Amino acid sequence: MEYSEFAVEVARTAGDVLKHYASRDKQVELKGRANLVTVADKESEALILRQIHSRYPDHVILAEESGLLEPAKRLPRYRWIVDPLDGTTNYAHQYPMYSVSVGLEVDGRIECGAVFDPVRDEMFSASRGRGAQLNGETIQVSKVETLGDALLLTGFPYNIRERVGSALGMFREFLLEAQAVRRGGSAALDLCHVAMGRSDGFWELELNPWDTAAGLVILEEAGGRVTRFRGEAFSVESREILGSNGRIHNEMIDALARSRPVET
Ligand code: IPD
Ligand code: CA
Ligand code: CA
Repeated sequence: MEYSEFAVEVARTAGDVLKHYASRDKQVELKGRANLVTVADKESEALILRQIHSRYPDHVILAEESGLLEPAKRLPRYRWIVDPLDGTTNYAHQYPMYSVSVGLEVDGRIECGAVFDPVRDEMFSASRGRGAQLNGETIQVSKVETLGDALLLTGFPYNIRERVGSALGMFREFLLEAQAVRRGGSAALDLCHVAMGRSDGFWELELNPWDTAAGLVILEEAGGRVTRFRGEAFSVESREILGSNGRIHNEMIDALARSRPVET
């Protein structure tokens, strides 16, 4: 089985764990002031780790709840990057927007990924050079040409209290320049929604590799563009991300450059 098929299989079985707990006691704990973790995050991650370990025992794994896992005999070229539940706050509140994200980096480049939305039963996947799919059908970014006609997505970081001025400054600029802005609560799904044309662009501060790894390759393979805020090359360690259908990318870079922190 190819890596991308494996990622899809793993994301789907982890999605079953999320479905199982969705209507049950989720045992919510706090990792930070507004940063939650539930039994579903932990069990979804444990299941994903078991599957990767058993199939690829010498691959490195970076997973949100467990951190970096390096087997004694390892092939450092291969690193799985896993978010067992992206959108935990939504999940804990039964707001139907969350996902599982599984990406594979080879020699420092994300080669394939799968993002599964168990609420809509939507499996987004991609492999470098082979396009992106939603439930097996090829997807492509939207054809919206200008920021004024664009529906944008964004998110706010858990350390919002430290970044509130700049986060609101960017939000303000896009509220004024785009047709509309939405805040869904799952960065991995945000990237996939741009990839399949439900939205035209996405930006966010302070993301982690597990939020963006799989979504990055899905959006790029769907014909989109992903950079840092000033247009520099993006890597999953970048923390800031600007993803779009490509057509509105330069306008988004200009808007971010124009934005000024809002005084709070
Ligand atoms: C969060 C979601 C959210 C984004 C946050 C992330 P989590 O991930 O992706 O959309 O705004 O910055 O941390 O904690 O639910 O896995
Ligand atoms: Ca996440
Ligand atoms: Ca998570």
